Amino acid sequence: NWTDFLWAIPAYFLGSIPTAVWVGRAKYDLDVREHGSKNAGATNTFRVLGKKAGRVVLTIDILKGMLAVLIPYFVLPVPFSSPHLTHIQLVASFMAVLGHVFPVFAGFKGGKGVATSLGVIVGLQPLAAGICLIVFLIVFITTHYVSLGSICAAIVFSGCLWLFPINTYALPIFGSLLAFIVIFAHRKNIKRLVDGTEGKMNLFKK
Ligand code: G3P
Repeated sequence: NWTDFLWAIPAYFLGSIPTAVWVGRAKYDLDVREHGSKNAGATNTFRVLGKKAGRVVLTIDILKGMLAVLIPYFVLPVPFSSPHLTHIQLVASFMAVLGHVFPVFAGFKGGKGVATSLGVIVGLQPLAAGICLIVFLIVFITTHYVSLGSICAAIVFSGCLWLFPINTYALPIFGSLLAFIVIFAHRKNIKRLVDGTEGKMNLFKK
C-alpha cells in the first residue's frame, strides 16, 4: 500500500534531530563537527564534550531509532506479528537512520547511524541487538577503536537477522541495507584504520 510510505516523512524528521549538534551548541557553544573526528554522533560528543554530554546524545540518538519502530506499532491497529506492520516499521527505521546521517536540520551533515540503528534493532529484534552490542563491546574493548566495533557489529547484524524467525524477507534485506549505510558512513574511518591513524578511545578511562 503506497500510503505506508507516508511514514517515511515523520521518520526522516525524527532521525534528522541533530542531537550532537544541538547539545554542543546549546550547552558548550561549539559545533562538534568542527572538532575531533568532526562527526555529529555520540562517540565524537564523548570525545569532544565529555561523558555527560555523550550520554545524553547516545540516549536520544538510540531513542530516535526505537521510536521509529515503536510509534507505528502503537498507532496502527494491526497485530504485532503482521508483516504489514513490519514493512511500515522498516520504512520508518530506514528513514530515521537516513535522517540521522543526512539531517535536514543540520545542513545534511550528521552522524554515522550507529546509535540510531541500535535503537531500531532493539525495537525490531532485541536478541539481534544484544548480539551486535556484545560484538561491538568485544571489538571496542580489545582494540580501542569505536569505529571498528561499529563496523563489525554492522557486519554481524546483516548476517544475524537471517537466524531468527521472520515474518517477511524484507527484514533481513533491510538489515543488509542498514549495515551498508553504517559501513558507508564509516568510509573515512576505514581509510584511517588501514593507514593506522584512527584515534583510539578507552571505555574505562575517566
Ligand atoms: O558512532 C560512530 C563511531 O563508530 C565512530 O565515530 O567519531 O570516531 O568517527 P567517530
